[in-house]
Formats: sequence, C-alpha cells, structure tokens
Amino acid sequence: NQKKRPIILGNWKMNKSLKEGVQYARSLKAAIAGKTWIMCGICPPYVFLKDICAILEGSTICVSAQNMHSEASGAFTGEIAAPMLKEVGCSHVLVGHSERRHIFGEDDFFINDKIKKAISFELVPILCIGETLEEREAGNTKDIVLRQLKNGLRGVGIELIKCIIIAYEPVWAIGTGRTASPEQANEVHSFIRTILSEDYGKDIAKKLSIIYGGSVKADNTEALIHQPEIDGLLVGGASLELESFLTIIEVVQ
Ligand code: G3P
Repeated sequence: NQKKRPIILGNWKMNKSLKEGVQYARSLKAAIAGKTWIMCGICPPYVFLKDICAILEGSTICVSAQNMHSEASGAFTGEIAAPMLKEVGCSHVLVGHSERRHIFGEDDFFINDKIKKAISFELVPILCIGETLEEREAGNTKDIVLRQLKNGLRGVGIELIKCIIIAYEPVWAIGTGRTASPEQANEVHSFIRTILSEDYGKDIAKKLSIIYGGSVKADNTEALIHQPEIDGLLVGGASLELESFLTIIEVVQ
C-alpha cells in the first residue's frame, strides 16, 4: 500500500494582515523550492488571494480559498463565486468547513451545490466533514460522516470524484488542542474510504486523498501522517507561524 504524495494545507482562517500574508507567502516559496515530496498549500482570506497567487505563481505551492458561493454570479451581496477565485489564480477551495457549517449554518445541500460548482470551474474542492463532540459521545460519528459525505458528493459521478479531496476534521479537535488520536483518525479515514469504495470502486477510492485536520502540530504530525489511511494534513493554528508550518512539512518528509 504505497503512500501518496502527502498534502499539507495551512488554513489561516480570519487571521493576518495583507503585509504579513505576503511576507509569509514569499518566505514559504523560498523555503519550499525543490521540496517535491509534498503538495503544500495555503488558504488565505479572500482579500489576500490575488496578491498571494501572484507571488506563488510558478511555484509548487497551491492557493486555496476558504469558501465560495454555490452560484457562479448574481445578487448575493458579500459572497464570492468560483470563477472569481479561478480568475485570481486559486486552484483549490475549502467547502463545508465545520466553521461554515456550525457558525454560518451551511447545510449539506448548499455544500453539495458548491462542490459541483467548484468542479465545473476547475477548482479542486476540499470537502470538509466531521462530527461534533456531542455526536461522537453519542456514538454517532459514522452516521454523521456518512451523511455529510453522501450528501456532499450527491451527483458527483465517477469521472468527477477524482477532482476532489476529502478532509476529515472532527469538530471537537478543531482549535481545542485536543487532537484525535492517530488511531481514532485513521479509523474514520478508513470508514470514509470504504464508503468511497462502495460508491466509486476500490481503485478510485484508493487513489483519493483523505486528509486530517484538528489541532495538528509539529509534535503530533509524525504519528498522524504515518497512519495508512491519512494522506495529508489540514493545519489551522499551527500554520499561522511560518516556522511551525515549516516544521510540520519537515516532519512529513
Ligand atoms: O481547517 C483547519 C482546522 O479547522 C484545524 O484548525 O487550529 O485545530 O489546527 P486547528
């Protein structure tokens, strides 16, 4: 079971000034040059995307938006559409992050529409799924993950599933310092891959990247990334300082 090229993504959420973001991107580009064993990316706030994409153009670092709307244009004040992200140079977009689901009330249907729209504009959607603490304690982790996965991917056929990355982020592990143990994370990843195998076939499911997020830090990176079903990491807080993000990348090597 050969490991895929690991994906390491830094989600800045609503942090940093433009000046800090630009400086970070320049330094990251210099630090990552020649490191081809990983696929590294960052998810800056919308208003930094154009500048950061310009800096990272021609590098192997991808730029992902943190969100998008499900429509390509229209009367949606305050929203950003897939073609706009594409135009400024994004290659990826987070969809259904737990903060979007739980703070902003996004549901599976809206998320599914976004997934399909992202693909239609050749953006790689990173579908984020994961249970809350309450749901885990009630023994409902698999039901929740199954529901979010099935609904999120509704209408995504065999030819399009290859364009998607799945991120498992247990809500109780996000920003809490409480990481899922590597075994706990691996178990859910394995469950996700089984569902994908049933729907898309074993070969395709094997090739899909399922990444983990939730209090990833330099000191738990090694144990997480060595789990057979974990193909990468979605890092929040520990990606904000370039040094700590680079340490995570080094550990993955
Ligand atoms: O998208 C990444 C994320 O939600 C995890 O955040 O701060 O727990 O690493 P954090």
